[in-house]
Amino acid sequence: MLMRLLHLLDSETAHATTLAALKCGLGPRIREPKDLSLTLFGKRLRNPIGLSGGADKQAEALAGWSRMGFGLVEAGTVTVNPRSGNSRPRCWRFKDNNSMVNWMGLPGDGIIPFVANLEAFQHEPERKDLTVGASIASPDGKLEEFAQLAKACSPFVDYLTLNASCPNVAHANAQGAPEKTAADQVKACKDAANGKPILLKLGPTRDQAVLNRMVEAALAAGVDGFVACNTLTNADRGLADGLALDWPMRDGSPVGGYSGPHLLPIACWMVQEIRALVGKDRPIIGVGGVQSGADALRLLDAGANAIQLYTGLIYKGPALVQDIMKALAAR
Ligand SMILES: Cc1cc2nc3c(=O)[nH]c(=O)nc-3n(C[C@H](O)[C@H](O)[C@H](O)COP(=O)(O)O)c2cc1C
Repeated sequence: MLMRLLHLLDSETAHATTLAALKCGLGPRIREPKDLSLTLFGKRLRNPIGLSGGADKQAEALAGWSRMGFGLVEAGTVTVNPRSGNSRPRCWRFKDNNSMVNWMGLPGDGIIPFVANLEAFQHEPERKDLTVGASIASPDGKLEEFAQLAKACSPFVDYLTLNASCPNVAHANAQGAPEKTAADQVKACKDAANGKPILLKLGPTRDQAVLNRMVEAALAAGVDGFVACNTLTNADRGLADGLALDWPMRDGSPVGGYSGPHLLPIACWMVQEIRALVGKDRPIIGVGGVQSGADALRLLDAGANAIQLYTGLIYKGPALVQDIMKALAAR
């Protein structure tokens, strides 16, 4: 019923309403049917179910997500300065195939309120049960901004993710040698991260050579692990078998990145390949198209330590978290 009401609103209003409700303590409380904990980043992770970047850009409802049953939340993506993002509409639901295209462009209030929210959450009872990551980016690819973000966030989070793959901002010189750009960003964060693990979030690919280059360059730069994968652009839609949707256009060009079920096979392939490259000990978080317990198991079986989701929550609501818990518990 509640989900149906939220879907009557445009997607950004529905999202703001959800965040406001969670902040007021109005969300559900979901508990694991049995102990699903594991160790990640050398620490206890209550369960391997994560909320992916973009769902709580300001880190404003962390206690609510924890009560909803998430073991991990990747807050952000945060930028140094406030940004208005792209003009609206910039987020489109495709209800027939449980998908979205978003062209948000990393809007947000910047690092100062983000860190204040993270700091305030340290004193909440839910903190001990939630692994918190900060997703950071410099839309113009400024290395000093990565360092600044890593320094500001690291005292309050369990890990950092470099969002070097958002398709909705320029990332400066990402064309040419994206692996060098990513490696430089990892290096820029390393000293500022206070010893906190640094993950790199990759865009979708099925190109073995491209993936190898990216992973090897990031490892050489000192990255600790990977998040795979981000949303899919129209230019890359051929990677997704059978993806049929009327892609949103702006000024005659397709915009935004797709999220939903067609990402799952790509994310599984990437996780499997990255695992083969990095060995068993490095953290890999699988994300893309998880909309059921069975989907989550596919990503974990591909080699992910934990999974994240976003679009599935929009269509299935908190029952999705419960469904994944049940699938994990039945193992
Ligand atoms: C509205 C929206 C906003 C997003 N914003 C971000 C973001 O700020 N940072 C990020 O790393 N990923 C962002 N993503 C991508 C998701 O974190 C995730 O990688 C992608 O949606 C695939 O997972 P899903 O199919 O479970 O949604 C966003 C996705 C959506 C739908």
